[in-house]
Formats: sequence, C-alpha cells, structure tokens
Amino acid sequence: MEIRYELKSEKERRSEPLQPSEPLPFGVLRTDHMFIMDYEEGEWKNARIVPYGDIPIAPGAITLHYGQAIFEGAKAFCHDDGEIYTFRIDKNAKRMNKSADILCIPNIPEEIQIEAVHSLIDVDRLWFPKQEGASLYIRPFIFATQDSLGVHPSSSYKFMVIMSPSGPYYPAGFTKPIKLLITERFHRAAPGGTGSSKAAGNYAASLRAGEFAKKFGASQVLYLDTTNTYIEEAGAMNHFHITKEGEVVIPEFVDSVLRSITSESIMELSDRLDIKVTQKRVKIKEFIEEVKAKNITEAGGLGTAAVISPVGEYAFEDGGTLVVGDGNIGPNTRKIYEYYTGIQTGKVEAPEGWLKKVERKV
Ligand code: PLP
Ligand code: COI
Repeated sequence: MEIRYELKSEKERRSEPLQPSEPLPFGVLRTDHMFIMDYEEGEWKNARIVPYGDIPIAPGAITLHYGQAIFEGAKAFCHDDGEIYTFRIDKNAKRMNKSADILCIPNIPEEIQIEAVHSLIDVDRLWFPKQEGASLYIRPFIFATQDSLGVHPSSSYKFMVIMSPSGPYYPAGFTKPIKLLITERFHRAAPGGTGSSKAAGNYAASLRAGEFAKKFGASQVLYLDTTNTYIEEAGAMNHFHITKEGEVVIPEFVDSVLRSITSESIMELSDRLDIKVTQKRVKIKEFIEEVKAKNITEAGGLGTAAVISPVGEYAFEDGGTLVVGDGNIGPNTRKIYEYYTGIQTGKVEAPEGWLKKVERKV
C-alpha cells in the first residue's frame, strides 16, 4: 500500500520520549498523527498519515444517524531492546473484517490494516509510555460517510487509526479487584444481533447499564443472555471464573458474545500455564451457588483494555453482595496475569507470531 505522509513539522511534534510523571489515564492522551483511508467508488484508497485533528463529516452521514460504525482495540508494547511490538494485531484485523461483515461494511485486507497501524506507530514512536503497566492503546475504526437519510449500507466509508498512550483501564489497575452488578434488567445483545461484532452501537446500548451499575458501587454489569439463564459478558470484557481445583471457565462464544482475543490467548496458553481452561455455557444460578459454597474461588474479566481484571465481589439490586473467595486477587488470576503481561512486555517468550516488531521506515 502506498501511504502519503503529511507530518507535523519537527518543531510541532514530540521530540523526546514521553515520560509522564503522573499515572496515565486510559484513552485520554493522543499521539501527534492519525491514519486515514477512504472507501469510494467500490475501493479503499488514498491512504495517508496526517496530524491528529478534527475531520469534516456531512451532517447527513449515515454513521451519525444509523450507527454504521465498527472499531477495534489493540495494544503495542516497548521491550527492553527499545523496539515496539504490536500484540496479536492480526487477530484484531481479522475481527475487524468479521464486524464489517455483520455491519455490511466492505472488508479491508488484514495486511493493509496491519501496515496502517505499524506505519502510524513508527511515526509516533516517541509517544510510547515507559511507565510500568502502561502501553500504547491502538484504536482502528471504520464509519459510514455517505450523506443519506435512507436506511441502507453506506456507499462510502473512512478507515482510521488513532492511538492513545494509556495506563490501566480501571484506574487501580491490577491491584484492586472490581465489583460487578448482577442484574436481569439490561441485556447487551440478543441472538441474531450484533453482539459478536465491535459495532459502535453495542457500546451506546451498554451506557445505561453501566451508569445503573455505578449506583451499586459496581464498575460494570455482568450481562446475562436474554433468557436470564446464562452468563455472557462483563461490561466490555469477557467473563471468567476459576474453580477451587484451579480450572478456568470462560462462557462459550455464542452469537451474542464478543470473541475476545484475550480469552482466546488464555485458552491457547493453557499448556504453558499448566492450567485447564474450559469454555461452556455457565448458568448464573449455579455460578452464584458455587461462589457461595466456595467451589468457585476466583473470577474476573478479560479484555485488551482491561487485561485481566479480578472481580472481588458481585452486587445485587436488593443491596446484597456476593464475595468471591476472600475478595482479594487469587493465586491463579495472578499467575495468568503475570504470564500474559510477561509475554506482552517481552519478559516471557511469546508464542510464534504473537508479537510483530514495528519496523523503522520514517
Ligand atoms: N467483550 C466486549 C464486549 C468487549 O468490548 C471487549 C473488548 O474488546 C472484550 C469482550 C474483550 O475482547 P479483547 O480481549 O479482544 O479485547
Ligand atoms: C478493548 O478492550 O480494547 C475495548 O475495545 C474495550 C473498550 C470499549 C475500551
């Protein structure tokens, strides 16, 4: 792919490595540049890297009215050799195309998506946060730009990538387990819907539940399926629990659940971790009984932004609570977290193909 570079002048852009003294918030900072490519007349074209900034959009653009928009979330890590590596970016590119299929958006070849991300990181590599636990969060996204009020797939789109040097998604990071609200009131997705895609609308639809959860001191809702029988997801994370025998259980990737790259990675690492990882449908009633009986001793959420976030407690709308184990981070969760982040940061050998070095081009 040919990329046009319209970069900020040397004076305007970062000239020294980012060295924040404060803990970095998640998703707030931006790097100097962004990647853009247009879909017009049936093809993706005009790839460019330009200064980060506002973009013009027609007031009638389909994305603003009907939400034809999808996104991805990926991370890059700086290793001790001073080089930057993206983590499983090929999986993000593949999933972007799966989301595109679900939202009737034209696919972008995986290698083009990866080149877009790597070229942008290369330009903005001084924005890499060196703080412990921080990473470069990468946000590729596609949205419909056709100016039309009819409900139909757009004839034009933009694919963009922006980046944010970020600390942990939950401000306390791995040190403090989170609380989830168990409720039958809200559902994230239904069978035959868009739940297995990263459609922007899924997140708009989750805001009300997230705000409701806060009233109970919870960070997020534990989403059940639409029959209120099975556990599906935990906010913007997959859910997991660990039995007292040390078996990790992740709810099945049914049609209303996002296929988490973090979950898939933990499953692929089970031999190395010497931990049994099983996927199955998990009945909420049985889950609650087993936590009470202390047969389930650890639980948490899995996701790129949230990494592995232990859950210490579940809340109920009647004010009741359910503590998992002793409410602290359990030994298996800690072991998985350390191994997984060890791979990401280059301290533990990564399986073949998981890390891709960002080559120096510019
Ligand atoms: N589930 C939902 C609804 C999400 O938004 C995310 C975040 O991307 C995940 C699960 C975790 O997926 P991944 O591990 O690929 O980031
Ligand atoms: C991610 O984990 O990358 C996500 O996309 C979740 C997000 C909504 C912050």
